[in-house]
Amino acid sequence: MICVDTNIFLIDKIGRAHILKKYFFKKGISGEKKIEQGVKLTSSWLNSKEVWMKRFVFFIFPVIPLILLSSSSLAREKGISETVFSPSQECGNCHKNIYQAWSNSMHAQAISDPVFKLDYLHALNEYGEKVREYCLTCHSPTTRYTGDTYLKNRISREGINCDFCHSIYAVDLENPKDPFKVNPGSTQYGPYQNASSPAHLSTYSELHTRSEFCAGCHQLKNNFGVLVLGTYSEWKEGPYPEQKVHCQNCHMPKVPGMPIVDPKVKKSELNMTAHEFLGGHSEINLQHAATLRTKFEVKKSKALVTVFVTNAESGHKLPTGTPVRKVILSVKLLDDKGKKIAEKEKVYQKVLLDQKGDVLTESYKMILEASSILSDNRIAPKETRQENFEFDLPPGIKPFSVESTLRYQYPTPVLTAGLMEVEMAKQVVSLPLGKIFLIGFFSWLRVFIILLFLFLILWMGYRMLKRRFL
Ligand code: HEC
Ligand code: HEC
Ligand code: HEC
Ligand code: HEC
Ligand code: HEC
Repeated sequence: MICVDTNIFLIDKIGRAHILKKYFFKKGISGEKKIEQGVKLTSSWLNSKEVWMKRFVFFIFPVIPLILLSSSSLAREKGISETVFSPSQECGNCHKNIYQAWSNSMHAQAISDPVFKLDYLHALNEYGEKVREYCLTCHSPTTRYTGDTYLKNRISREGINCDFCHSIYAVDLENPKDPFKVNPGSTQYGPYQNASSPAHLSTYSELHTRSEFCAGCHQLKNNFGVLVLGTYSEWKEGPYPEQKVHCQNCHMPKVPGMPIVDPKVKKSELNMTAHEFLGGHSEINLQHAATLRTKFEVKKSKALVTVFVTNAESGHKLPTGTPVRKVILSVKLLDDKGKKIAEKEKVYQKVLLDQKGDVLTESYKMILEASSILSDNRIAPKETRQENFEFDLPPGIKPFSVESTLRYQYPTPVLTAGLMEVEMAKQVVSLPLGKIFLIGFFSWLRVFIILLFLFLILWMGYRMLKRRFL
């Protein structure tokens, strides 16, 4: 509800009240002033123009129903609700570009994504109903408040939707089971201090520009105290917090020239940020994440390869997320025709064990059963790892170059291949020219000596023949 005076309530539907504010009072309620859970406006927003406004309000009071009939169609059509979460499509009526981007995001598919679905079904089968509520706390977070764990309402099937994220006004990381403080309804919390909208209140929230906002979901310690998902703490322990580079800086970059709202609704000068939340499902992201530097030499009967792997642009460990992902460095020794002579690999991953000591390979099992971490050799942000590989060279085998590749591997039982693989980086290094020349030199020397020998034999034969017959 919006009150114009401390005791006059104009209208009970917040959307409509806002339209009133917008069209009649222009600068009425500023974004910073907070409505207390749809009861009444606490701050007295009527400023110096108060008296004038009051008169105006009383004057138009009888006309209101008429005005509403004509102008409320916008509000109804936009349908921003007062107390519950609104469907994302309604936000999309005005925030078209953001809606489109979000629709393609993993957040919008957090329920419908087949990888999740299959995993979730397994979990329900094996562990029963109690799992339902738990998984949905992050994958369909509005169910925390609506209790719709059977996903009957469309809004629950939207996964992580607009209104959930923009109703969050605080995150309490001390309370990981229930970290979000939300105020669903008329207020949208966002990154701009000077936004104003006809459909909802806009309240500036610095939290929305910080990693803590994402941490409510991207950090999961299970009942055994094992950190299954540690994306936030991996970021926190890296160099980025000091540089004030938050999750949003990489995953939600500003989109220049794209206004936050449809120009038909408002000519806004504020730009939108990317709402696709691209991560490991994006090849482009993966291809920027890491770099390789390879050194190669041959010493006697050994080929020595050193590879420096740098987590250059990933804000957390590489890989991050549920520990089903692996990053694999492979080094191939090639001959001068590019044929593979030998290959070695190094795998970066976090390996979790259950109570029996068995290695876990599925997300839901990791979340529900991991009781210890066997190993974790993933690469920290900005860290460079040096890996040495030694190949024995059988006699007669001449390596010419070495190819090092970094692959991102994600086992997905829903793909027929059972695996998603993306090449992250690749480098081919040939032996230094001098070395090639030296190896070449020695082999040429051999040929030369054999030829010399042949020549000598022939020459001696020729001399003997010549002496006998001439
Ligand atoms: C009737 C059109 C309309 C609808 C519907 C609408 N918005 Fe807005 N929204 C706007 C306008 C206009 C602005 C402000 C643009 C400006 O000031 O330049 C805005 C601003 C915002 C902001 C920025 C707030 C800030 O302070 O940074 C957020 C976040 C937002 N909307 C989220 C939503 C969400 C979520 C929904 C759906 C529940 C929604 N909006 C529905 C028109 C709308
Ligand atoms: C309400 C919980 C929640 C919040 C808040 C949240 N996320 Fe997510 N996020 C998820 C879930 C769940 C998924 C996985 C969806 C799926 O694949 O089924 C996900 C997926 C992602 C992905 C895609 C990963 C991939 O594999 O491609 C990225 C990137 C991401 N989130 C970044 C962020 C950032 C940045 C923020 C903060 C601005 C954030 N998330 C806030 C729950 C959340
Ligand atoms: C996972 C949480 C999350 C979801 C889902 C989400 N947003 Fe946002 N949104 C954010 C964050 C965080 C920011 C601030 C980004 C920044 O400025 O660093 C933001 C910014 C905005 C803004 C301000 C302009 C801009 O683009 O930065 C608007 C408007 C907005 N969101 C609308 C929407 C709408 C509409 C949807 C649904 C179609 C939506 N958001 C879905 C987290 C979310
Ligand atoms: C410096 C830029 C940067 C920052 C900061 C950053 N990320 Fe990422 N993120 C990336 C890149 C690049 C990738 C793709 C490579 C990878 O999987 O690590 C990625 C991948 C992801 C993935 C997908 C993991 C996968 O393998 O599918 C998630 C989820 C994610 N980030 C969430 C977050 C969250 C949450 C934060 C903040 C706590 C954050 N990121 C901070 C750059 C960044
Ligand atoms: C604390 C929040 C949280 C809870 C609880 C949670 N998840 Fe997730 N889940 C995430 C986040 C964040 C991601 C995205 C990071 C990633 O892709 O690894 C994710 C990703 C996944 C993925 C990978 C999806 C994909 O497309 O890559 C699966 C599968 C999954 N979760 C299953 C489950 C199941 C099953 C449960 C319940 C047993 C569950 N999750 C509980 C936060 C959570």
